[in-house]
Amino acid sequence: MTSSLTVIGLGYVGLPLAREACRSGLAVTGLDIDPSVVAGLMNGQTHVDDVNSSDLAEMLQAGFHVTSDSTCLESSDTVVICVPTPLNEYGTPNLDAVKAATRTVSEKLQPGTLVVLESTTYPGTTEDIIRPILEAGSGLSAGTDFYLSYSPERIDPGNPDWGLRNTPKVVGGLTPTCTEQAVRFYDQIVDTVVPTVGTREAELAKLLENTYRHVNIALMNEMSVFCHELDVDLWAAIEAAKTKPFGYEAFYPGPGVGGHCIPIDPNYLSWVVRSVGYRFRFVELAEEISDRMPAYVAKRVQDSLNADKKSVNGSVVLLLGVTYKANVSDLRETAARPLAAQLSTMGADVRYFDPYAETFNFNGRELVSEDDLEVALANADLTVLVQAHDEIVESGALSRAGRILDTRGVLSGDNVERL
Ligand SMILES: NC(=O)c1ccc[n+]([C@@H]2O[C@H](COP(=O)([O-])OP(=O)(O)OC[C@H]3O[C@@H](n4cnc5c(N)ncnc54)[C@H](O)[C@@H]3O)[C@@H](O)[C@H]2O)c1
Repeated sequence: MTSSLTVIGLGYVGLPLAREACRSGLAVTGLDIDPSVVAGLMNGQTHVDDVNSSDLAEMLQAGFHVTSDSTCLESSDTVVICVPTPLNEYGTPNLDAVKAATRTVSEKLQPGTLVVLESTTYPGTTEDIIRPILEAGSGLSAGTDFYLSYSPERIDPGNPDWGLRNTPKVVGGLTPTCTEQAVRFYDQIVDTVVPTVGTREAELAKLLENTYRHVNIALMNEMSVFCHELDVDLWAAIEAAKTKPFGYEAFYPGPGVGGHCIPIDPNYLSWVVRSVGYRFRFVELAEEISDRMPAYVAKRVQDSLNADKKSVNGSVVLLLGVTYKANVSDLRETAARPLAAQLSTMGADVRYFDPYAETFNFNGRELVSEDDLEVALANADLTVLVQAHDEIVESGALSRAGRILDTRGVLSGDNVERL
């Protein structure tokens, strides 16, 4: 019998999961509270870079259905929750969407169903938050009447080599049977499933991965500031260090961290660490260092203009690439925003070019992307490479431009100065 799956939350994580499940022959329903997401997907319009319109057409052809009606949960063998886990205004975890989605599941939960949480969260969420909501709403017991597991999503938007199917998938269940059920489910969709001892360890695995990146990126950011003062080429040093075949992994400095994961997820861990009376000092330090990078880049812009006897005030500063990551359109938490805001406050005429972002907001203003890179470069007093989209980096126009501040260490030439 075809197994049936409901994916709750059809964003960057839920939609690729639904696609792989469709490809594996499961009967897949997408449940989302946003009517524009439901209507868009049912009309064949995708809003997620990693799932293109022909992928979506194939999914719809295979019977993929998207709805806001939760009755689909009653006939699902498996329910996977992929809703957002942002921070609230005080920088602490906001589990509102996770709790709301779980309540919806609890009202329709049937005996024998496997429920999996994929949203990134702190250790203890599945057992201490999800379990009681499901049990209270359904009258069923986790581990006996239904199965409950956590499986962190490792999706890396825009990565052409590693996707959901070939990236090993960690799962941890409330009980050994819950883990077994989750392994059986994901075995249908991904090449390698990695069971761990429980939900807390699976939850921590994801935060460990993101915290490791966060700390190492911050280390490079801090080093970039003093290497510039010491007149040492950090980029060349990283290239040299990474020839060591063991014990070193290369990370790179940049204009600040962005996206839905690195600036947010480690806060989930530091929040829970505080509950046992400690401060997670590595995370706090990493955050402090990387948060200062946009202001540091603005200072370097000032220095570069100064070298040409120009002031920031009144100069045209062109930002190339404003999304948080290369070759994706996601603008969430992008470091380009505080950078643009700071330059604008200093009096610069900030413009931008980004083939992935038609519009870009900062300081309550909305800019529209320059449409001709060559003309935009010619009109700029200084150009800053903020995001290394292939289309920008590979453009021959950059070699004909005036002075460029490269915050990604990917350009070379007499007109280029690296961070
Ligand atoms: N984006 C990434 O690269 C990435 C990578 C790994 C993990 N994650 C984690 O995965 C989770 C989801 O992130 P995302 O980037 O896919 O989010 P997203 O904002 O792209 O999509 C979430 C979707 O959930 C829907 N939604 C919200 N509340 C709902 C509810 N109660 N019921 C049904 N639908 C609801 C929204 O309408 C939206 O369509 C987060 O915890 C995130 O940290 C994200």
